[in-house]
Parts: sequence; C-alpha cells; structure tokens
Amino acid sequence: MSENLLTIRNLNVTYDTEDAVIYAVNGLNLTVKKGETLGLVGETGAGKTTTALSIMKLLPKNIGKIVSGEIIFDGMSITEMTEADMRLLRGEKISMIFQDPMTSLNPLLTIGEQIYEVLELHDLNKTKQEKWKRVDEILHMVGLPAERRDEYPHQFSGGMKQRVVIAIALACEPRLLLADEPTTALDVTIQAQVLEMMHELKGTLGTAMVLITHDLGVVAETCDRVAIMYAGEIIELGTLEDIFDGSIHHPYTKGLFGSIPDLKKSARRLTPIDGLMPDPSCLPEGCRFHTRCPECMKICKTTPPGIYENNGHQIQCHLYAAKNMR
Ligand SMILES: Nc1ncnc2c1ncn2[C@@H]1O[C@H](COP(=O)(O)OP(=O)(O)OP(=O)(O)O)[C@@H](O)[C@H]1O
Ligand code: SF4
Ligand SMILES: [Mg+2]
Repeated sequence: MSENLLTIRNLNVTYDTEDAVIYAVNGLNLTVKKGETLGLVGETGAGKTTTALSIMKLLPKNIGKIVSGEIIFDGMSITEMTEADMRLLRGEKISMIFQDPMTSLNPLLTIGEQIYEVLELHDLNKTKQEKWKRVDEILHMVGLPAERRDEYPHQFSGGMKQRVVIAIALACEPRLLLADEPTTALDVTIQAQVLEMMHELKGTLGTAMVLITHDLGVVAETCDRVAIMYAGEIIELGTLEDIFDGSIHHPYTKGLFGSIPDLKKSARRLTPIDGLMPDPSCLPEGCRFHTRCPECMKICKTTPPGIYENNGHQIQCHLYAAKNMR
C-alpha cells in the first residue's frame, strides 16, 4: 500500500465572481505522507487556503469550483465523493483548523458541548456517558481542566480558545489535520506552547498535518517537508534540509527566504519580494513568476517550466534545465 495518505493531481480551482474568473489553484500536484507534517508556504493570495478548502470540499458554494484534477485520500477520490460522504469524512478522518479560528467557535454553546457535538456525529457506538468522559479526556489532552467544559468561549483567553479549536479538530483523532495559520492570532509565547502541543498530539495520534504558515521559524521547528506555493502552483518542494540547507532553489524561494542559509537564526517571517503577485484573473504566459524574477530568461516568458527533480527535491524552473542540473 502507498505511503501517501493524500495525493493531489493537477488540481485546478477557480472562483467565479461577478467581474472575473479568479484562477486560484493552477495545476497543483502534492502528496502528504502518513504521519508527516508538510509546511505549505507562500505569499498572501498564493492559493494555500483554497487548496485546503478543496481538500475539505468546503469551497464557497456557487463561487468556488474544482474545475479539474483529482484529490485522493487514503485510496478514496474526494473529488468524486458526495456531500453526504464528505460529511462523514470531515472531522472523522480529515479536520481543518481555519485561518480565523476565533470565529469558528459557537458563542452560544459551551466548549464541552462543542466537542461533544463532534463525537456525537462520529462516535455512534459510545454511550452518552462515555462521550462526556471522552470530552474531559480531550480537554485534558490540550491542557485545559475538564471542570471548565461548561463554560462558554468568551470566558477563555485567546490561547485557550485556540486550544479548544484544536481539541475540536482532534476530537475524532483524524488521519489528516489541515491547519491554516493556526497560531497567527496568538502572541509569541502562547504560539510556541500551542505548536508544541500540536506536535505532541501528532506524535500520540499519528496524525499527518498540512501546516499553512507565513512563519519560517515555525516551519523549521515543525515540518518534515516544505512546499512553496506561487500563483496556485507548487514551485519548489523538498525536505526541511533541502529547503533550508540546500544549495539550489527556485528564484522565488530565494527571494522569500532572503538570507538562506542563515534562515534559522535570523529571518522568521517571509521577506517581501519586489513586485506584486500576478492578477489571478489574468495570469502571465510561460513561468508565472517571470514578471518578478531577477533571473528571467527569454524562454520563461513563453514556455511554462517543467519540474526538475533531484532525490525528491523538486524545482519548477527553466534555470536548472539551462544549467543542466542533475
Ligand atoms: N471567495 C472568494 N471569491 C473570490 N476570490 C477568492 C475567494 N477566496 C479567495 N479568492 C482569491 O483566490 C486567490 C487565492 O486565495 P487564498 O485565500 O487561497 O490565498 P492564501 O494563499 O490562503 O492567502 P493568505 O496567505 O492571505 O491567507 C486570491 O487571489 C484570492 O483573492
Ligand atoms: S522559469 Fe525563469 S522566470 Fe521562472 S523562476 Fe525560473 S528563471 Fe525565473
Ligand atoms: Mg489563506
């Protein structure tokens, strides 16, 4: 059996707005191995959230659309699954922590009730009493005292609320957790605590994780592999070592990371790059990065680059073909 828990092949996703068609994800290929943490990194608008929402099949109705491609989870085709089947999969096998987690809690229900709701949907064989016992265990797991289960979200601090969001996401011990900027809203100390906790839980539960983040320090501390995304494509992918210590990189990665190889010590945040992301309703021909690339060649303006691979380290750029990289 394949080691891959998730395989995305040639995924294309658009948003049909009144003014234009937004090409948010464009021929994206990606795999997530069982139990690994994959970092998904890229500037704002790169298509990271859209990719996660596509996996969950939670794109905004009538606007967001998977135009083509395939998403396979544990041997099942998500792209072909019905909404009823997806409802069973969500929360049980795949969970998502949303980019704005504070708004994903229901202010009218106690935190205990919100965790209980997830168990009620999926743990059909457990008695009521067993489910409440499990609620207490889950709260304990994320470092919250079980006595607080009858309190409402507003009675918790930001960091605690985030723990509750994570508790809900992990309640059914999913195989895959999609964490979209899970700690961005928190201050640095709490951020470190929450990440440490997620890391421990991953170890205990064996959950694979896609961690979407702008924070390279977080990537360096938590990820096994890193995918760099630009204009709806993965333009570089590799192990943590490939990305942080490797000698060759996509020009976009070089720009983002600014000061490789001093990255772990200095730059935590992505470095701003000159120029803007291309208009997603009118993407450039050839390499989509060519309008900003300091190493742009003639061929880049007309021909999309292929992927050059070296031991699993992938770079989508003409440069390496030109230099005969092996
Ligand atoms: N509901 C929507 N309707 C129209 N366009 C959208 C919608 N959601 C996202 N987009 C567009 O799709 C593109 C990808 O957006 P997405 O939210 O996936 O980016 P992101 O990488 O998650 O960015 P960020 O780092 O800011 O969260 C952007 O151009 C964005 O403006
Ligand atoms: S293909 Fe050309 S434009 Fe694109 S990143 Fe490589 S060198 Fe730059
Ligand atoms: Mg996003």
